[in-house]
Amino acid sequence: MSKVKVGLIGAGGIATIAHLPTLRAHQDRVEVAAIADLDADRVAQVAQEWDIPGRYTDVDALLEAEKPDLLIVCTPPSAHKEAVLKGLRAGAWVWCEKPPMLTLSDYDEVEAQEREGGPYASYVFQHRFGSGAATLKQQVAQGTLGRPMVALCNTLWYRPHAYYDVPWRGLWATEGGGPAMGHGIHQMDLLFEVLGDWTEVTAVADTLDRDIETEDVSFAIVKLESGAIASIVNSVLSPRETSYLRFDFQDATVEVEHLYGYDNSSWRWTPAPHKAEDTETVQSWAPQENIPSSHRQQLAELLDAMAEGTRPRASGHDGRRTLEFIAALYQSAETGQRVRREDLVKDGIYYTGMHDANYIYQKPQEG
Ligand SMILES: NC(=O)c1ccc[n+]([C@@H]2O[C@H](COP(=O)([O-])OP(=O)(O)OC[C@H]3O[C@@H](n4cnc5c(N)ncnc54)[C@H](O)[C@@H]3O)[C@@H](O)[C@H]2O)c1
Repeated sequence: MSKVKVGLIGAGGIATIAHLPTLRAHQDRVEVAAIADLDADRVAQVAQEWDIPGRYTDVDALLEAEKPDLLIVCTPPSAHKEAVLKGLRAGAWVWCEKPPMLTLSDYDEVEAQEREGGPYASYVFQHRFGSGAATLKQQVAQGTLGRPMVALCNTLWYRPHAYYDVPWRGLWATEGGGPAMGHGIHQMDLLFEVLGDWTEVTAVADTLDRDIETEDVSFAIVKLESGAIASIVNSVLSPRETSYLRFDFQDATVEVEHLYGYDNSSWRWTPAPHKAEDTETVQSWAPQENIPSSHRQQLAELLDAMAEGTRPRASGHDGRRTLEFIAALYQSAETGQRVRREDLVKDGIYYTGMHDANYIYQKPQEG
């Protein structure tokens, strides 16, 4: 079978830390034909280091000359839409970094460019793709652990003031939001991947310490279609960092704790007292194989979808759900109202943006 020809846009941090190593790990299935970045020196350095023949400073030139089968978009969020649209229009499947788009209207505009059987645009949500998440998702579908009732989803991370020196960070126009959009999005996506769609949210978001336009912390209480209730915290102010999800079912508590990636050792299944004696069943809950959460596993599944001409995971509604939730979180925090999914009306403030420009997040005065 011929290899999938890949073009990559945005040769910065995540491209070199995650995507290029991932592509190398799949070199029996892919060929990295070209990269593009606005910064020509960066292109030269990364292309040399990773032995990539095609070198460009804009996406149009790359698409025109290389005609890639798959375009990987690793630009800052404000450049996602243009690159993804161009990729789809050129007939390439697209895998774009999170957050998928800056707004729901942008997401829908991009989705309208997809064609039945491909190309499709899908988005990086690597934490869905480890064996811990896959096992738990299957257990929820089969009702193995009883009904889900209570969930916690904490992204307690620390980003110092200097982190926001990068010009696109901390601004609504270029990052689309604070830690709800940029950091907790992975954990929230995993929460919804396991428990399914949400129905309503009540949230608070504030800027407590960083000199940024967006929030630096948010809290949300969420109802899910299953009837379960979840609490979500997204913070960049938390010195002891953790990414922690906890799911309480009738028969067990399931937890995962890690920072930027997990494997099976990060997961714990604790039986309810009435199940504790049933050791055979309890032992059967843990995953059999150990697949870490990673770009690598998500790319493997995307390549399978391309080969089959089927919609990949983390695209369409499945790629939109968490973005939709984040828009509702900001709507609730800024209006002080409980927001249901049906309140996110087309062409409303939180459909065409993530934020009401009249609502100002303000740091408390020192001293
Ligand atoms: N999945 C994850 O865990 C994860 C982790 C970190 C970052 N990200 C996401 O990856 C994306 C990139 O983040 P980063 O940390 O690598 O940023 P970065 O600033 O290190 O790199 C971005 C690169 O894109 C280039 N660029 C900007 N606009 C461009 C354009 N229009 N065309 C071509 N190149 C352009 C810049 O010159 C830069 O080299 C963001 O969307 C971010 O949210 C994802």
